[in-house]
Amino acid sequence: MKRLFFTLFAALTLFALNGCRHEASTPDLAVVPNPLSMQGGGRGVLLPESGDPAILTHVSHVLGPEEYILDTRRGKVLLTAGSKAGLFYGRQTYAQILQQVRAKGENLIPGFKIQDKPAFAYRGAHLDCSRHMFTIEEIKTYIDILALHKLNVFHWHLTDDQGWRAEIKSYPRLTEVGSMRNETLIGHQRTIGTKEAQYDGTPHGGFYTQDQMREIVAYAAERFITVIPEIEMPGHASAALASYPELGCRGANYPYQVQTCWGIFPEVLCAGNPNTIVFLKKVLDEICDIFPSEYIHIGGDEAPRIEWEQCPKCQALMRQKGFTREAELQSYLITTIEKYLAEKGRKIIGWDEILEGGVSQSATVMSWRGAKGGIAAAKLGNDVIMTPNSHFYLDYYQTSDPTGNGEPLGIGGCLPLSKCYAFDPYDQLSEIEQAQIKGIQANMWTEYVASFDHIQHMILPRLAALAEVAWSNTNRTSYEEFVQRLSTALLPRYTARGYHYAPYAFEGIE
Ligand code: ACM
Ligand code: ZN
Repeated sequence: MKRLFFTLFAALTLFALNGCRHEASTPDLAVVPNPLSMQGGGRGVLLPESGDPAILTHVSHVLGPEEYILDTRRGKVLLTAGSKAGLFYGRQTYAQILQQVRAKGENLIPGFKIQDKPAFAYRGAHLDCSRHMFTIEEIKTYIDILALHKLNVFHWHLTDDQGWRAEIKSYPRLTEVGSMRNETLIGHQRTIGTKEAQYDGTPHGGFYTQDQMREIVAYAAERFITVIPEIEMPGHASAALASYPELGCRGANYPYQVQTCWGIFPEVLCAGNPNTIVFLKKVLDEICDIFPSEYIHIGGDEAPRIEWEQCPKCQALMRQKGFTREAELQSYLITTIEKYLAEKGRKIIGWDEILEGGVSQSATVMSWRGAKGGIAAAKLGNDVIMTPNSHFYLDYYQTSDPTGNGEPLGIGGCLPLSKCYAFDPYDQLSEIEQAQIKGIQANMWTEYVASFDHIQHMILPRLAALAEVAWSNTNRTSYEEFVQRLSTALLPRYTARGYHYAPYAFEGIE
């Protein structure tokens, strides 16, 4: 009896250590993100003399929409999925396996059955194209990289203080004026207007035409990726105000500029001016025309309220509405826009500042100042996307010694691969509150990242850790095991595609 108890205990411990997923007979194959289950056995599939074995696909609505089963046990590659998206993810897994078999010089894909589905419906990556402009071809490559990691949202940050990038036909000055800054701060001086700050003297800018943005939407859709555009309001609006100064609290005669350095600027859209609402609605009309996504990101972050405190129009609106705090003005602006978008069948996502002054139940909160905004929002019953700067801000350095390791410029901080991997999206939440966490996202801000090569260094391989959390959150094994799997399953794929990843990302790993 004692012996039986011991055997049972040992079996249970092994089961727990293995993350309850891979059977003892699992073939020696690595997949990132880690599939839900992998069983070995059966004949496997012989590789033909040339080309790849055909995949026999089947859509079965018995499976979840993104779920797939990849099966090589009966001499054929069988792929069943709940939708075309699931088939796409199954093909990504198959490509990782095929590359490993070929790398070993073998001619047999071992027999296995993989069953897989993502932990989160929203699996995103953001790209700031305001601070630095990237070409349409580079954005397509960015989307390819997301697809390689089985992510399904591209959050496109199109407007900010340093450049407005989206063509808006009803407000042409946004791109005639707002898309170009005179020069850019050199290197790492974050203080606005200090004497020591040095500038490069080179204009920087550009914008995406509506046709180009539609091209990106279509390109992403072919890879089962939704593009969520972000139009910042009411802050981070210097480029909009340089184009249409009458929309600012300081009025039409104030010489607003497209900013040339980074930071938080006091100049914001005037919430008390009805033309601001007209402007935002017309911009969003065109944005909704281009982007079919259910969600539109309305920004909402880092909007100082100093100007609202002194602006007669803003103060008059506050009196009219009975507001006592400027935060309520922000809330009023955001809910007005939310209602307008709802009439078009759209929903809003905003940075976690939209919680201040009150937020409607239907707004999705993107938690960036750590996870606390997301936790508060989930407790209120709002949907949440977790993008905490502590774990998913990929403009942070990747090691504790960026200089010694030869890292390219980052904003600061230290966000190693191991920390991305360790993020717990459900921390401090009850089971009911956990249901509000709809997904996670990495953010790629580009104040200090001016080239696409540099972007690749910042996102790879950390995006793989995000993908691991997004797909296998509760089935993670250990960081060391993840790194081993990553180096077999994904690093060779990066190299084969010519992507540059950070070699110093594996600090501390033997
Ligand atoms: C943010 O990083 N300001 C959302
Ligand atoms: Zn105002």
